[in-house]
Amino acid sequence: MRRVVCPGSFDPITNGHLDIIGRSARLYDEVTVAVLINVEKSSLFTVDERIEILQTVTKEFDNVKVRKFHGLLVDFCKQNDIPAIVKGIRVVSDFDYELQMAQLNYRLSGVETLFMPTNPEYSFLSSSRVKEIARYGGDVSGLVPDLVHKLLIERLRS
Ligand code: PNS
Repeated sequence: MRRVVCPGSFDPITNGHLDIIGRSARLYDEVTVAVLINVEKSSLFTVDERIEILQTVTKEFDNVKVRKFHGLLVDFCKQNDIPAIVKGIRVVSDFDYELQMAQLNYRLSGVETLFMPTNPEYSFLSSSRVKEIARYGGDVSGLVPDLVHKLLIERLRS
């Protein structure tokens, strides 16, 4: 069984994330989407809400499961017998940051990191930008799954 993890905050998931998850699901037997529990960072959606959203928008993929984790990602990988991490790379600055993390993670545990170029259609996309645009009434349809679009409008209007 070839397993891989797609980790992140996913606050909220964007179409860029979904593209990486879907492409990973075609390459691996099992993809675990791991949501970081980060008590130091304020979020728009709770971890459990994000998990529910992720489960809904990835339900077309039979081999994708969604979990939460805290602490080190490599410890989560070891506990779940996952030998590799997939990270999407949008721009060169992502690579600078991700390379250091990948090397540290490998040094800590032997867990590999595989970089997947983001679909150019989404290379400008991030959860923070999506929230900012939605907060000020901009249109984020096409940038996030329809469910997220609807939930963003509800959450930011309340
Ligand atoms: O979507 P994000 O916020 O860019 O995801 C970042 C994430 C969750 C992948 C990263 O912060 C992470 O792996 N955090 C867990 C703590 C950890 O393992 N740090 C790496 C030390 S080298």
